Amino acid sequence: MKRDVIIVGGGVIGCTIAWRLAQQGLKVAVFERGRIGREASRAAAGMLTPQGEAAGPSPFLDLCLRSRAMYRSFAHELKEASGIDIEYKDEGTLFVVLSGEDEAQRMNWAKWQAGAGLSVEHVSASELRKLEPDVTESATRAIFLPDEHQVENRRLMDALAVAIKLAGVEVVEGSEVSSLSFERDRVTGVYSSGDLIAAGAVIIAAGSWSSRLLEPPGVKVQIIPARGQMLAVRGSSVSPPVRVLHSSKVYLVPRRDGRILIGATVEYAGFNKAVTVQGIEYLLAAALELMPSLRECEIVETWSGLRPDTEDHLPVLGPSGIENLWLATGHFRNGILLAPITANLMAESVSGNKQLDVLTPFGVHRFKGH
Ligand code: FAD
Ligand code: GLY
Repeated sequence: MKRDVIIVGGGVIGCTIAWRLAQQGLKVAVFERGRIGREASRAAAGMLTPQGEAAGPSPFLDLCLRSRAMYRSFAHELKEASGIDIEYKDEGTLFVVLSGEDEAQRMNWAKWQAGAGLSVEHVSASELRKLEPDVTESATRAIFLPDEHQVENRRLMDALAVAIKLAGVEVVEGSEVSSLSFERDRVTGVYSSGDLIAAGAVIIAAGSWSSRLLEPPGVKVQIIPARGQMLAVRGSSVSPPVRVLHSSKVYLVPRRDGRILIGATVEYAGFNKAVTVQGIEYLLAAALELMPSLRECEIVETWSGLRPDTEDHLPVLGPSGIENLWLATGHFRNGILLAPITANLMAESVSGNKQLDVLTPFGVHRFKGH
């Protein structure tokens, strides 16, 4: 049986694209070498923070903002489809300035955001104490971004796993794609466990591992793993922050179940997913600097994941330059946020076999060698 589309990789990107394509009536298979949603998409913090991560206006920020605007209804649609609530929380995000930090820099950052029409609110030290009483007294001010929200990304992946199966997607877990099959310079399918599985189109959404499939046919896209270590703490005598909190070194993400996530390192350590003493020491020191009461908490979990990064830290979306082969990878720090818009645009491109102008800044042609 020939599939219309095979997607390599069952992370948030592969699964959301599969969902949209199946909703258009296409016969779609997701090949996942392990289990759905167990890599970066599970390791993430689930923050939806285009403004928080932006240094200035750009097509990338526009893409992120479009995706952020889709999230509330995306969460609702997923709940309807799967019965799983992905815990969309809309309390906003506070960027706290600690004493000794460059206040002017943070103010300039807030200024260009306000100038770009984005919601930004200035919070004095005394207001901050009322909003988040456990933030360190050495905080001098904060910037509040009311539109920066979060989801519980583990529940997101559980919901997607249910939704795609109900939509008719064939989910092939425990099946690594070893290579692509070609006929006269066109991709005709994939090889897995020695079998050739034919498809009209193949989408590489294999996260940090994408280059392994792209190098042999000469697609010059380097996807670089960027390790992120995190931990979760909880304390019966500690009030979790109401909102997501950031300092310049760390973020704290309160979950509905009382856990507080502390993240995250960004390390270029190859495919090594170790959680290290140095990584956890750094995160704990930075978290305690921001919220000293966390000292009373117990550590309930540590983990790490590999963000799929690129040379310019932008995703790679659209045609690969080889007929029938498409790319949806390199989402680095924003793959959870970008999943809804990526899925819609990739589904439109692949099903219509067309290049979309909005994806041009994220095309493969920006890399040397193309
Ligand atoms: P993955 O989730 O890694 O999925 C790729 C899948 O492909 C894997 O399941 C893998 O097993 C499979 N695969 C690989 N090769 C093959 C093969 N040959 N055959 C079959 N299957 C294969 N983003 C946000 O938006 N907000 C956040 O707050 C946030 N926080 C983060 C915190 C941390 C610590 C980390 C690590 C990441 C964070 N991110 C966040 C980034 C986000 O997690 C990633 O951008 C996103 O998960 C990438 O999704 P993906 O589907 O491309 O990759
Ligand atoms: N976006 C948060 C992170 O990647 O750590």
